[in-house]
Amino acid sequence: MHTQHVELAQRRYPIHIGKGLLNRPELWLPSLRGRQVLVISDTNVAPHYLAPVAAALRSTGRQFDTLILPPGEQEKTLQRFAEALDALARLRANRDACVIALGGGVIGDLAGFAAACWMRGIDFLQIPTTLLAMVDSSVGGKTAVDLPQGKNLVGAFHQPCAVISDIDTLQTLPMRELSAGLAEVVKYGAIFDAAFLHWLEQHADALLDRQPDAIGEAIARSCQFKAEVVARDETEQGDRALLNFGHTFGHALETATDYGSLLHGEAVAIGMLMAARLSANLGRSSLADTERLRQLLIRLRLPVDRPDGPSPSQLLELMRLDKKSLSGELRLVLWRGIGHAEIVRDVPELAVREVLMR
Ligand code: NAD
Ligand code: GLY
Repeated sequence: MHTQHVELAQRRYPIHIGKGLLNRPELWLPSLRGRQVLVISDTNVAPHYLAPVAAALRSTGRQFDTLILPPGEQEKTLQRFAEALDALARLRANRDACVIALGGGVIGDLAGFAAACWMRGIDFLQIPTTLLAMVDSSVGGKTAVDLPQGKNLVGAFHQPCAVISDIDTLQTLPMRELSAGLAEVVKYGAIFDAAFLHWLEQHADALLDRQPDAIGEAIARSCQFKAEVVARDETEQGDRALLNFGHTFGHALETATDYGSLLHGEAVAIGMLMAARLSANLGRSSLADTERLRQLLIRLRLPVDRPDGPSPSQLLELMRLDKKSLSGELRLVLWRGIGHAEIVRDVPELAVREVLMR
């Protein structure tokens, strides 16, 4: 097992990464302060992984309830959030209660937001079961739900008390979801570290084969990048926004397709390429770097072309409601090439439209 910490101004919390961790409740039981616990999961995850969590809670005599939601991004809604609050009310949860998120990023974001709002904030524990959640969404405390008007528009910063990433759970993850998680891993190399991107190129097959050493290392290195940024800039006043490379484009694609056809990681893959192309068109980076990124994404079985349907005007309109926009003006994360991202304002609209067309 590998353990690292997210160091915040007021406190720190552990991220445990390894095999068989669901059967090691001693890693997370001590972080429960009270006797009441709500476990939120979804119908794909609960049949595989709820039992050891429930058994551990039962063994300590805790009062717990479960909320098992249908899976998928289309469920990350205010309605499901209200169901989570209802479940906490039924549990008569007090301020020392804890919400456990057992699932992917959808469950983590929604459960975390419910924990952030219940009684103005109770504890929550992340037990991520997708690669995407292990490398990104379970760490850093961003919680949210989507609106039809835009992704993650309603949410809060609320840090978990611990993250338990059992890589054995990835054995049941569908291949398409594994690739979607790899998109966020590629993002770290693209924005921070050319050597890590090279490592990904060398280990692409091992990662697709879910070899534990490669997967474990990809998760640990991703969490290290993320923890460092979050420690510097917990609430995204500055360079945490770099983690959004490809996301302004990607979120617009997800919203325009009603959160139905593209997985989040797939939208990020297409969005990263749009950001790279835009950077090259503006003379900030080379076409060779764009092509290298494209080849890696293809090897990792990710889509690289935008879906038919949404028009450039529709996408641009959605991008203006992105959380990085200020006074309606777009701010985009672009790059200078592999390993060097930057936040850019005043990007000419015509140049953005051009990359949205293809
Ligand atoms: P997800 O939660 O929808 O999970 C993907 C699918 O895999 C679902 O169908 C789920 O039921 C299934 N699943 C999960 N674990 C499984 C397992 N072990 N075995 C079999 N099936 C399993 O999607 P995701 O990709 O994990 O997360 C995407 C979400 O994360 C998006 O809403 C995105 O906005 C959010 N996100 C948040 C942050 C953040 O910082 N908070 C960062 C990145 C992404
Ligand atoms: N996934 C972007 C962030 O956590 O800031």
